[in-house]
Amino acid sequence: MGLKHRNSFGLESIADFAYEITSADQLPVLMEGLSDKKLAWRALGGGSNVILPAALPGATLLINILGQEVIKLDEQNTWLAVGAGVNWHELVAWTLEHHLPGLENLALIPGTVGAAPIQNIGAYGVEVGEYIDSIEAFDSMANTFVAFPQEACQFAYRDSYFKQNPNRFIVTKVVFKIPKVWQARLQYADLAKQFTESNSSPSAKQIFDAVCAIRSKKLPDPKVIGNAGSFFQNPIVGNDQHDLLIKQFPGLVSYPDGPEKRKLAAGWLIDQCGFKGRRVGPVGVYENQALVLVNHGGGTSTDILNLAKQIQDEVLKQFGVQLEIEPNIL
Ligand code: EPU
Repeated sequence: MGLKHRNSFGLESIADFAYEITSADQLPVLMEGLSDKKLAWRALGGGSNVILPAALPGATLLINILGQEVIKLDEQNTWLAVGAGVNWHELVAWTLEHHLPGLENLALIPGTVGAAPIQNIGAYGVEVGEYIDSIEAFDSMANTFVAFPQEACQFAYRDSYFKQNPNRFIVTKVVFKIPKVWQARLQYADLAKQFTESNSSPSAKQIFDAVCAIRSKKLPDPKVIGNAGSFFQNPIVGNDQHDLLIKQFPGLVSYPDGPEKRKLAAGWLIDQCGFKGRRVGPVGVYENQALVLVNHGGGTSTDILNLAKQIQDEVLKQFGVQLEIEPNIL
């Protein structure tokens, strides 16, 4: 089965076998069969954070478990259980329509609900892990379902227990815990500046609209130009290294990350190296955001990874900072 339309980079990739999973109940028998036959497998959500090779051996599971329902309410919180295959942005819109604000800063992030906790998606000062109560996943090693409370998920910047243990768990359901008391989260300067003094207390819907507007301006629509969002993580360095760098490069963009570290804007580093808008054959660096690599059409994972290596080498040479690739390389 061709997966060109199941990955946001638009890479040509042929899966030996693809199975659509619409219910978690399908997994125990299917996974036992794959294990008996010693077949390789991987789960694919929206395909918006992966770099697919030309050929995918074994089984590719297309996770399409749908449905969302409020399962519990108390004075302080609402608990919402959502199938892993639900589209992330549609869920955010649904929560606002149902008066459950909180996720609006994460509007327009491509991908599915099941993939969101794996890399702990984050934008505009909010990370999804903060709103997760628990996760249900199928453990392929034990051939059983496991419930992970939030503390067990080890959420960190673009990281989680699931990302640390690749090819073991298949997320089937995510339970969100949404506080009833809502507060706008406008720490991120780019977002805060959308609201003027006449509207310094925007509603959740206004924040949702502002986030959609910023993202549409800065990030390419994967339906038009293939991409996987930020291609590298923003590197975290100690304050000492940061202080040395800023002496040499006074324009360096960074944000505090706890008391002893700073997160550098990788987009700025790449931009300074002159890569923004550069095209190398069928792939390139997006013209409005240097952190986003794009496939103009016909590019392969090798083209993307070669360009990534060129960028990593140049950033290391100029700034002494190693960039880590963010999407999963399958
Ligand atoms: N910058 C440049 N040139 C560029 C791009 C950025 O100089 O070409 C500088 C600017 O100073 C800009 C700063 O870098 O203000 C930060 O850029 P931006 O606000 O676009 O955010 P980012 O750090 O590049 C991160 C996330 C995004 C998330 C935004 C908003 C990572 C790896 N990326 O990007 O997440 O949407 O912040 O919160 O943490 C994703 O993970 O796929 C993603 C899009």
